[in-house]
Order: sequence, then structure tokens, then C-alpha cells
Amino acid sequence: MSEIIVRKVNFEFPEDIDLYPIPSMPRVSLFIVAFSLTMPYLEPYLIKMMLNAKKNISDEALLEDMNRFCQQEGNHYRNHARINKIIRSKFDDDVAKQLARIESDLKADYDRFLKDENLDFNLAYAEGFEAMTCAAALTSAQRKPHKTGFMNKDWADLLDWHGLEEIEHRTVAFDVFQQVCGKYFYRLTRGLWAQGHYLYAIHKFYVVMLKAKGMRVMPYIPFFILAGGFKYLNTLFPWYNPANYRIPDDLKARLEKYSAETT
Ligand SMILES: [Fe+2]
Ligand SMILES: [Fe+2]
Repeated sequence: MSEIIVRKVNFEFPEDIDLYPIPSMPRVSLFIVAFSLTMPYLEPYLIKMMLNAKKNISDEALLEDMNRFCQQEGNHYRNHARINKIIRSKFDDDVAKQLARIESDLKADYDRFLKDENLDFNLAYAEGFEAMTCAAALTSAQRKPHKTGFMNKDWADLLDWHGLEEIEHRTVAFDVFQQVCGKYFYRLTRGLWAQGHYLYAIHKFYVVMLKAKGMRVMPYIPFFILAGGFKYLNTLFPWYNPANYRIPDDLKARLEKYSAETT
């Protein structure tokens, strides 16, 4: 029986939602918004590659986890797409066009990876992304930002739910990569490249929005790396396995409150 639960979660976001998830921290906020803008491209890419990888997997339990991973990621990007639509409307047409251009470039990159690159490459990309975000999600989950009140409630619920489900399905991309390819050095080098590629896409969205809001572009450490800290560094070593993480005891209970229906 899979440990991963598919929850039907549909957030309703108000049209007047704050552009800044953390109103007192506009720079951090725009990085979070930039992350959200990538989701409707990155997560469908993960789903398509998992579906491609199924033919290489015979372990029934892992196949079921892959199905559930895809359903969770599908729910994630659909909720992000809804908030992104409102967010885009908060910028003028010129800025919205610049954001749309970055979105179509990112989609073209992922389409190209699926078409021209082999499965090992795509799975290493998935694992690089999942390892980086799970490390950050574990740190965020401990801080429980939705409870501290400094974050906008709608954003906090979306990010908390998404982060907790990322923790819940943390082993899937790693296990599939291990079964299909399994080479540590390949995971390390392609994973780092993938993280660079993904963070650069976020950076492009971030810069456009900073400029639109009259803020200077300054050097920064991406939130995922900063929040992941030592947990992120640990993902770079051969002994890394996300199954070994200590998971918050209340993970399932916290997820339950977001769930209208579960399977
Ligand atoms: Fe996700
Ligand atoms: Fe994920």
C-alpha cells in the first residue's frame, strides 16, 4: 500500500490576493511568485517523464507510487496555474508579455528535453529538482509559516500544502532514477545542471517582476538553497537517499485539513 495519498485540493484564490506572499518582504515574495510561475511547466514535464519511465519499471509498488506522484503534481500545477492567472493581472501588459515569453521559453525547453534527451537525463533533472525542493520543504515545514501569521493566508496554505506533499512523495523520483540509471556521478552532475537550469528560469521571472516594481536587482542566494542548507548539501553525496529523512510526525494530519476527498 502506497504511503502517498492523492488529495483533491482546489484552492479558491480571491482576485484581490496580495501579490506579495510575505507583505513585509517584497523581494522574497517575488522569488516565491517566480517559483509559482514555473510550476505549470515544470510539473507537467515531471508527469510526462514519469509516464515515459513506467515501461522501464517492474516493481508494482513503485509503479503505484509513480501514479500517485503524477496525480499529486497534477493537482499542484493546476492550483498554481489559478493563482498565477491572478498574479499576471497585477502587472501591466508589457510586463505580462515579458512573463509570457519566459513561460513559453521554459515550456519549449521541457518539450525539447522530452523529445531530444534520453530518459536518464530527464530522470536526473526530476531528481535534482525534487531533492532541492524537498530539502527546502522540510525546513519550511518545521517553521510552519502558515501559523506565524507573517505570510498571506492564501499563499501560505498553497505553499504549505504543496511543500508537505513534496515531502510525502520525496522518494519517487530518486527511486525511479536509481532503478533506471543508478549512477551517482550522473545524478550529481546532471542534477546540478538541472538545478541551474531551473533556478535560471526563476531568476528571469524574478528580474522582470523586480524591475516592474521598481526594485533593484541585487545578488541573492536562491531560497531553495538557503532554506535547504545542510539538507541540500547532503543531497550531493553518494549516500543521499530521501527515504532516510526524519519526517514531521504531524505531516499526514496537517495535509488532511487541505483535503476535501482522498483516495
Ligand atoms: Fe509539486
Ligand atoms: Fe514533487
